[in-house]
Amino acid sequence: MSEGTTAFTPRVFSGIQPSGGLTLGNYLGAIKRFVDMQGSGIETIYCVVDMHAITVWQDPEALRRQTRELTAGYLAAGLDPTQSILFNQSQVPEHTQLAWIFNCVARMGWMNRMTQFKDKAGKHAEKASLGLLAYPALMAADILVYHATHVPVGEDQKQHVELTRDIAAKFNHDFKTEFFPMTEPVIEGAATRVMSLRDGSKKMSKSDPSDASRINMTDDADAIAKKIRKAKTDPEPLPETADGLKERPEARNLVNIYAALSGETVAEVMAQMGGKPFGEFKPLLADLAVDKLAPISSEMARYMQDPAEIDRILKDGATRARTIAAPILRKTYEIVGMVGA
Ligand code: TYM
Repeated sequence: MSEGTTAFTPRVFSGIQPSGGLTLGNYLGAIKRFVDMQGSGIETIYCVVDMHAITVWQDPEALRRQTRELTAGYLAAGLDPTQSILFNQSQVPEHTQLAWIFNCVARMGWMNRMTQFKDKAGKHAEKASLGLLAYPALMAADILVYHATHVPVGEDQKQHVELTRDIAAKFNHDFKTEFFPMTEPVIEGAATRVMSLRDGSKKMSKSDPSDASRINMTDDADAIAKKIRKAKTDPEPLPETADGLKERPEARNLVNIYAALSGETVAEVMAQMGGKPFGEFKPLLADLAVDKLAPISSEMARYMQDPAEIDRILKDGATRARTIAAPILRKTYEIVGMVGA
């Protein structure tokens, strides 16, 4: 983690949308790293961003279930609600209140340039919800309503965190203040961009129509092993060193996944696995994945047996989150010139 904005106490914030099942990409790119940052002495705040999820249609029952399931995933992976603040976004109204102010700071051109918006809106941008366009301003509010200095995310969210800095900078400039920090994205490790198991040029995603393209955190041991055995590769054995992975996206992806799961560097993995044919490497990867993921998926199922306990954890987290967010929002209102703030 780099220094960040020195005038602000270091604080970590991140979030995940409850818009479908969790994938191995979410786990390695985000949740596992959230767990690593917990207990590092820095305050950690992790959110289930349900307000972001509804920028595209969500069935209400499914949204409720997915919100609880994502929380179960956080807990099963090792987030501890006594060490981190865990909550869902809609229970802390300060996020959307600050987002409105940021809607008035951010420029339309900035939003139109966001690659996630272009991908999600597709060719019919005029039919996308207004919320989908404003999405990054809400994300900036999520982060800045806590004066968060560090945001662990996967590679695909880098542009949004950079936009958060642009919004903070414009706000500070317009109101002649240094109120908001310049937040740093933290994009580290071997698995900042986990790719599809069927196509090494596409990101692993919960919205891919092919279930074989991803490992879901709810997959059982058999499903995990089968998907890895069937993962697309080229016919050559693994190269001897990491350099040889450059032009081989599928092989590189599997090695990156191995490294992230085992907690080793890619160079360390290549020292053991270099030269092995996929017929040997894939079963080793499958065993490692089952070893690391199956306990999480069974813990998730156990947490899901007690939704009232999950709801209690989210409510308690929201109360604690509000004690940080409310004074920052009040001060923002005051800076903007709202009477009564
Ligand atoms: P979301 O819900 O799409 O993804 C959650 C996190 O998982 C990471 N991720 C991946 N990492 C590596 N490889 C992949 N294939 C992969 N797929 C997903 C994402 O980079 C992300 O870190 N806009 C955010 C949610 C959000 C947020 C925030 C994040 C809302 N407010 C404030 C940080 C701070 C999103 O859509 O993530």
